[in-house]
Amino acid sequence: MTSTSAAQAGSKAQTLVEALPYIRSYRGRTVVIKIGGAALEDPKHASLVAEDIALMTLVGIQVVVVHGGGPQVSQAMTAAGLEPTFVGGLRVTTEDAISIVRQVLVGTINQDMVARLGGAGLAAVGLSGIDSGLIRADVQSGPNGEDLGRVGKVKDVDTALLRALLDDSYTPVIASIALGEDGGPLNVNADAVAGAVAVALGATKLVYLTNVEGLYTDLGDAGSLVSEIKKDELAAMVGSLSEGMRPKAGSALDALAGGVGKVHILDGRVDHALLLEVFTDEGIGTQVLL
Ligand SMILES: Nc1ncnc2c1ncn2[C@@H]1O[C@H](COP(=O)(O)OP(=O)(O)OP(=O)(O)O)[C@@H](O)[C@H]1O
Ligand SMILES: [Mg+2]
Repeated sequence: MTSTSAAQAGSKAQTLVEALPYIRSYRGRTVVIKIGGAALEDPKHASLVAEDIALMTLVGIQVVVVHGGGPQVSQAMTAAGLEPTFVGGLRVTTEDAISIVRQVLVGTINQDMVARLGGAGLAAVGLSGIDSGLIRADVQSGPNGEDLGRVGKVKDVDTALLRALLDDSYTPVIASIALGEDGGPLNVNADAVAGAVAVALGATKLVYLTNVEGLYTDLGDAGSLVSEIKKDELAAMVGSLSEGMRPKAGSALDALAGGVGKVHILDGRVDHALLLEVFTDEGIGTQVLL
C-alpha cells in the first residue's frame, strides 16, 4: 500500500468514526424523509437517495419516506391537455386532474421508489394516505378562499399501520393522496403530509429533499442561501415565499411546533446529501431550528 492510499484509507475510516456518535443518537429514532418530485427526476439521484435511506435504516433508524411528484404530475396533465395551475404553491386539482395525480403518484412514482429501495436491500412498502385511512384530510381552499378542487389539508394521521410496519422492519413509502370526508381522494401537498406524519410519529428529524440547495432569502441569488434559520425568523418570511417553498416552510414550522426536533431542507440532486447531513459534521442545505 502506498502512503497516499494509506492516507485515503485513514480518511475513509475517519468518516466512519465521525458517523459513530450520530448513529448512536439516531438509533431507534424516527426520521421522516420527504423526496420531492424534482429530486426524483434523474434515476441516478433516486438510486443514491435509496442507498442513503437503506444505510440509515440498516443502522437502526426508523425511516418513513413521503414523496411528491410535482413535475411528473404537471407533465402528465399537459400531455392530457390540462393546464397545471397553482395558487399559493398548491395545485388546482379538478376531478380530471385528481385521476392523473393518483396515476402518477401512486401508480408510478411510489412504485418506482419502492423498487429502488428494494434494490438497495430494504423491504419497502408502498402506501397512499388512503390505505387504512392513514391520512384523512378536509377540502382546502386557496389563501384567498379560491376553490382549488380536490385539494386537501391534513386533518388526522393514523399511525397504527406505520408503527406496525416500522416495528417489523418494513420501510413505509407514502404517496401524498389523502382520504376525504366524502370517501374520495384528495391531493395534499407532500410537504404537508411529511410534516403531519413526522408530528404524529414524534419524529426526531424531518428532511425535505428538493431541487434547490436550500432556502434562499432571495431566490435567484445563490449567495443568499440560508444555512440556519430560527423558527420565528422563518415564520416572518413565509408570506414572501413563492411556489413550492411556501408549503415547505409552512410545514416545517408546523412540524417544529408539533414537537419535531429539527427540519432540514437539502438538495436531493447532491450525491449522498442525506448521509452527509445525518452522519457527518458537514453543514449542508438549510437547517430550521426551534
Ligand atoms: N426562497 C426560496 N428558496 C428556495 N426555493 C424557492 C424559494 N422560493 C421559491 N422556491 C422554489 O421552490 C421550489 C421547490 O419546491 P417544489 O414544490 O418545486 O419542489 P418539491 O417540493 O421538492 O417537489 P414536489 O412538489 O414534487 O414534492 C424550488 O425549485 C424553487 O423554485
Ligand atoms: Mg413541492
